[in-house]
Amino acid sequence: MKVLGIESSCDETGLAIFDSEQGLLAHTLHSQVKKHAAYGGVVPEIASRDHIRTWLPLTRQCLSMAQLELRDLDAIAFTAGPGLAGALFTGAVAGRSLAWALQIPAIGVNHMEGHLLAPMLESDAPEFPFICLLVSGGHTQLVRVDGIGQYRLLGDTRDDAAGEAFDKTAKMLGLGYPGGPHLARAAESGNPDRFRFSRPMTDRPGLDFSFSGLKTAAITAFAEVDRNPECVADIAIAFESAAVDTLAIKCTRALKQEGISRLVASGGVAANSRLRLALEKSAAALGGRVFFPRLEFCTDNGAMIALAGAIRLEAGEHDSLGVVVRPRWPVDQLGVPADGAAADPM
Ligand code: KG4
Ligand code: ZN
Repeated sequence: MKVLGIESSCDETGLAIFDSEQGLLAHTLHSQVKKHAAYGGVVPEIASRDHIRTWLPLTRQCLSMAQLELRDLDAIAFTAGPGLAGALFTGAVAGRSLAWALQIPAIGVNHMEGHLLAPMLESDAPEFPFICLLVSGGHTQLVRVDGIGQYRLLGDTRDDAAGEAFDKTAKMLGLGYPGGPHLARAAESGNPDRFRFSRPMTDRPGLDFSFSGLKTAAITAFAEVDRNPECVADIAIAFESAAVDTLAIKCTRALKQEGISRLVASGGVAANSRLRLALEKSAAALGGRVFFPRLEFCTDNGAMIALAGAIRLEAGEHDSLGVVVRPRWPVDQLGVPADGAAADPM
């Protein structure tokens, strides 16, 4: 089954074609970073307009990369949530309409399920069960994964997501948007001994996170040195170390608690090289292993949406004709595939 995947939940338009027999055939991405940079964050209206302009040329590009025609597609998967409502609508309307025109099924995919399954795009995909650290701009969650759609939420952030804390801290330090990669780059030249921030919520039991205090600690430290530009890299590395340690400590705890040796880390922050190293060490210390998607599939992309859609479509699930998006859509509310299959795909 050849599935066209459309990702449009935030500031990236991702298109991909996944074949359930041959794997990923093509993928392409258009980043809106330059369009939002001047505003220091994502402007939803600009995001929606840009998705509308971009999805069709990217679809054509994908088809040509895969040497396919529109009529070769068997189904369409689009991100239906969580995300920005307007941005989600652009992909949902595009995907649903194209599927109707081609008389093929369409399915709305949960973006976080896409992130969670993204390591399965790689040749050494993890087997079930595994613990997944979903760590992105909007989410920081630990999920026990026993199979497709069998997701149990073990821990969640009580305030900011890790990526959000990276972005806000980077903004306050005068680094660019999006903050995560900029802060990570600044941290490379930082002195790790100059500042130290506590590892939030690691001194008590449980798997929940809190990153807003860490963000405030970094901002306060910067104010205390009179916003001295020479301290930016030192604060960046102190922030990054605290965030990375915290995530690694909670992952170790989750693996131990559940008696599972396989860890998956996915979502934009999983592109962070210090975090990748720390999680490798944590999993190895327990005799286990960590699996990551390749860097470009950690951040938002169409491939993970095409893959997640293909898995559910193969199981017989599909949406009805209406266009429904869910800006809030907890991943642990998803059922196993085919649970909610609609009667008429067209
Ligand atoms: O998964 P993603 O592309 O979009 C969401 O679903 O949110 O994640 C974006 C987040 C942003 O907060 C971005 O700053 C962060 O991932 N990020 C990073 C890195 N690359 C992206 N954070 C830390 N280090 C990185 N290298
Ligand atoms: Zn994402």
